[in-house]
Amino acid sequence: MCGIVAYVGKGHCKDFILEGLTRLEYRGYDSAGFACINSEHKRFSYVKTVGLVSALKESVNKALIDGHVGIGHTRWATHGIANQENAHPHFNCSKSVSIVHNGIIESHEELREKLINSGHDFYSTTDTEVIAHLFGSLLKIHHTLKNAVLDLVSQAAGAYALALLMEDYPDQLIAVRRRSPLVIGIGEGENFIASDVLAFWDKTNKVFFIPDNSFAIINKDSVQCYDFAGNSVPIKIQDVDFKFANTDKQGFEHYMLKEIYEQKKAIDNTISFCRFIGSKDVCLKHIFDPNNKRKECKSNIDSIEYSEEIWQQLGLEIEQLKNLKQINLIAAGTSWHACRIIQFFIETICKIPVHVFLSSEFRYMPFFPKVDTVFIFISQSGETADTLEALRLVNSYNLPTIVVTNVVSSTMVREAGGFLPMQAGPEISVASTKAFSCQISILYWLAHRIALFRGLISLDQMRVAEDDLLVTAEVLESSIETYKWEISQTLAKFYAKFERFIFLGRHISYPFAMEAALKLKEISYIFAQCYPAGELKHGPIALIDKRTPIIMFSVLDDLIYQKLVANAQEVKARNGHLVSFAFEGQNELIKLSDCSFIIPRVKPLLAPLAMTGLMQFFIYQITKELGRPIDKPRNLAKSVTVE
Ligand code: G6P
Repeated sequence: MCGIVAYVGKGHCKDFILEGLTRLEYRGYDSAGFACINSEHKRFSYVKTVGLVSALKESVNKALIDGHVGIGHTRWATHGIANQENAHPHFNCSKSVSIVHNGIIESHEELREKLINSGHDFYSTTDTEVIAHLFGSLLKIHHTLKNAVLDLVSQAAGAYALALLMEDYPDQLIAVRRRSPLVIGIGEGENFIASDVLAFWDKTNKVFFIPDNSFAIINKDSVQCYDFAGNSVPIKIQDVDFKFANTDKQGFEHYMLKEIYEQKKAIDNTISFCRFIGSKDVCLKHIFDPNNKRKECKSNIDSIEYSEEIWQQLGLEIEQLKNLKQINLIAAGTSWHACRIIQFFIETICKIPVHVFLSSEFRYMPFFPKVDTVFIFISQSGETADTLEALRLVNSYNLPTIVVTNVVSSTMVREAGGFLPMQAGPEISVASTKAFSCQISILYWLAHRIALFRGLISLDQMRVAEDDLLVTAEVLESSIETYKWEISQTLAKFYAKFERFIFLGRHISYPFAMEAALKLKEISYIFAQCYPAGELKHGPIALIDKRTPIIMFSVLDDLIYQKLVANAQEVKARNGHLVSFAFEGQNELIKLSDCSFIIPRVKPLLAPLAMTGLMQFFIYQITKELGRPIDKPRNLAKSVTVE
């Protein structure tokens, strides 16, 4: 959601910024812009366009503008519609300050009123533009950039990341971070700023994560950082390992399809990694060290001895773990669906009660801090604003917090008490696929690891659980292969004609059905509603007709399966059109269905993981039939950094 890319250095900024914006497209946006101090006349040149970064590229290249310092932005509309006026960069009246911004300036209305009263003219409806005007005025009052920024942040309430460019300081950039991600890439004779290290991964692996509530004044050879009280902040440079940074489509038509097919490998990598970090001799603090001992340890996997150091990595004391009475899972979107599935794992395997919260709701509910609990935050990006704020809230009570994420360089990792990294590799398509299956897999592993610690399972059962995950990952992929032809040639065409769907699941397949319904809505824009199958007769049954296919996801627990069959009969008795995702041998359900996908049996708790690939592929193909922009659906953002 919104992306910032900026450059100051010996080289030219245009190509880097435009390429960086392209790499941040995954975050979601609806307009884009670029500004630089033009090398020729030393004044601002800029271009803003509505729509794709490719349109911006074309316009910037036509305008022949470039310079040694510049800023770029992809905007996801919040304050005002997506048009050229509202696209960033924004300027002050005299066009001496240019700014790009992620986040929300909460005090924008009162600031705007003050600025208008003192004679400023506004061109957009954004909250961002107030900062350009305000900073322009502050530069006239204060003698140093530092003091002007300190005054600015004392007046600008909210959560934001800013990059500021000033005509009167043509060799410098300012980067401000308050509760919104912003990183600096340190080069030689050049420095890079971005919302995500992906923007500059091929330029440098030396990264300075601007701490929260701080700002940096950056020129080509130096970075000075201060906190919002004006104290100097040491520049701690980290070496980031970019081995996963390849973001090519690698011949696939869409990132989503590529990522669906990457799931088996991503799960394998995640489980190998868990074995590695859970084994003796390894300390995860090496995670940022590209020369870590991972390879050596992998060769010893069969003789692995599980180490208690994993708890240190998760920020847990052994005593806390022994006394654990409740686990809380907090997340948003697809990650929340993963949590609802994970709840079954933890409660069944560890016998510990679990509470699952939506991060956007959790923050505003009464909170009763309890000892003997742990809070696990699940977030692909590690940046989702609501989840991050929920984490901060729990941290403020000094309770144990753990983040499970795909991005080790994320804000949540830096702020949580401990973390567990997934090994899914970058997920570019807005609709989450491989991150979802890795979240499920890694927590299935962790649930067993906790159970092993508490003496509920044996070492052999731990190893069997790891093997079960690998077998299920195989099923996830092979089921796509089984139905690939039929779905892409006939079924997708048929189902793409419907205007609404009902999704049903029961027990562990209910949250999975919610995820399937979300996937369909997100990418195809077809209306979909999900219900627990047992609730059908309490209202939704009135919706059954031939024009509303019912998609039902089965389970492997015999008792619950029988209940699902009864629900399938209720559908068929009313002439409903039933599509089922069933498991081998579930003949009653298969016979009742108008269309069924039959999946090899796995461990009952892993039923959702086994169905994941095929469900995603089916929805992907329906969407492809409709010609939707699969990787970048309208209105959606991958990294939701505003509340
Ligand atoms: C957005 C994305 C979803 C994602 C959700 C939570 O809505 O479009 O795919 O599930 O954010 O993101 P997170 O990075 O916290 O898992």
